[in-house]
Amino acid sequence: MCLRGRQMKIAEYHSPVLFEECMKALIWDPNGVYADCTLGGGGHSEGILKRLSAAGHLHSFDRDPEAIAYATQRLSPFSSQVTFHPVPFGRLADEVQPNSLSGILYDLGISSHQVDDDARGFTFQGTNPIDLRMDSRSDFSAQEWLRTNSPEAMTKAFKENADLDRAYKLTLNIQSVIADLKTPILPQHIKSAVEKTYPDRMRDVNSILARVFQAIRMEVNSELDEIRSSMRAAVDALIPGGRLVVITYHSVEDRTVKLTCAEFERACICPPQSPVCLCGGNHQKLKKVLRKPGLPSAEEIARNPRARSAKLRVYEKV
Ligand SMILES: C[S@@+](CC[C@H](N)C(=O)[O-])C[C@H]1O[C@@H](n2cnc3c(N)ncnc32)[C@H](O)[C@@H]1O
Repeated sequence: MCLRGRQMKIAEYHSPVLFEECMKALIWDPNGVYADCTLGGGGHSEGILKRLSAAGHLHSFDRDPEAIAYATQRLSPFSSQVTFHPVPFGRLADEVQPNSLSGILYDLGISSHQVDDDARGFTFQGTNPIDLRMDSRSDFSAQEWLRTNSPEAMTKAFKENADLDRAYKLTLNIQSVIADLKTPILPQHIKSAVEKTYPDRMRDVNSILARVFQAIRMEVNSELDEIRSSMRAAVDALIPGGRLVVITYHSVEDRTVKLTCAEFERACICPPQSPVCLCGGNHQKLKKVLRKPGLPSAEEIARNPRARSAKLRVYEKV
């Protein structure tokens, strides 16, 4: 497989996180139909396909054409059992039948390949223009986001997506650095705005920059809206007993998953002010399988430091 002119080894593209834990939580019927909403390098998809019988099937989604190309090659031994969907997982309901899936996996965020390939413009340590599009065919990149947003919208994104303090000051500093720039915005431009905003935290510059990039990436790819709409569709797509398995990597993502699923864990959907239940009290569609989120072992974190912030949430359709 050739990506950007070089051979990619599997571990170089992406090492799947919480792999055994996901397989155990997700697959209960080897004859079932499953969805991997975040194909990436295909590590989890391959694990699912290896555990299915000849009657089983997998739908794999990724909005990144490079992921689809790489994983199509990797999963070619299973080609009759996998359907690739090169679309955002927010479109799950358009691609699969309601009440048809035995399990759905989301391994949220981005792959190691997306971060490590400087040409993709995902890394704050890179030298290429900031881009941050998972789907490089989309015409809205971080360049447009940074140049066209109001100070209010930018401040809100930094606060809500990455819990950044001094978000308004940071916004003004970024806008002043890029105001007269005739060339594309580079990571160093954002770095200089961060250094100007947090002069007393020079030792934390990299971690602040990582959060700034995370906040912009989430906007460019509408990540929280994608999670909300896809998880709601996932509840309809699952059969009773079907599993919803989600790995998150930061608190805002995790909170969004938790709150979206909580909508379906309630049996009673009457307004809180209603003194008695009038809805019938039979609306529960999901129950937690893991009471507390699963975490990677110390051994996994030592082997793959990118797993360190992962949290696994598992639900079952009732
Ligand atoms: C953490 S990686 C998944 C890695 C994968 N589990 C593996 O084993 O290689 C996340 C992948 O999900 C994709 N992705 C993230 N959000 C998406 C969305 N809303 N729709 C489709 N794909 C998405 C990214 O492009 C990326 O390739």
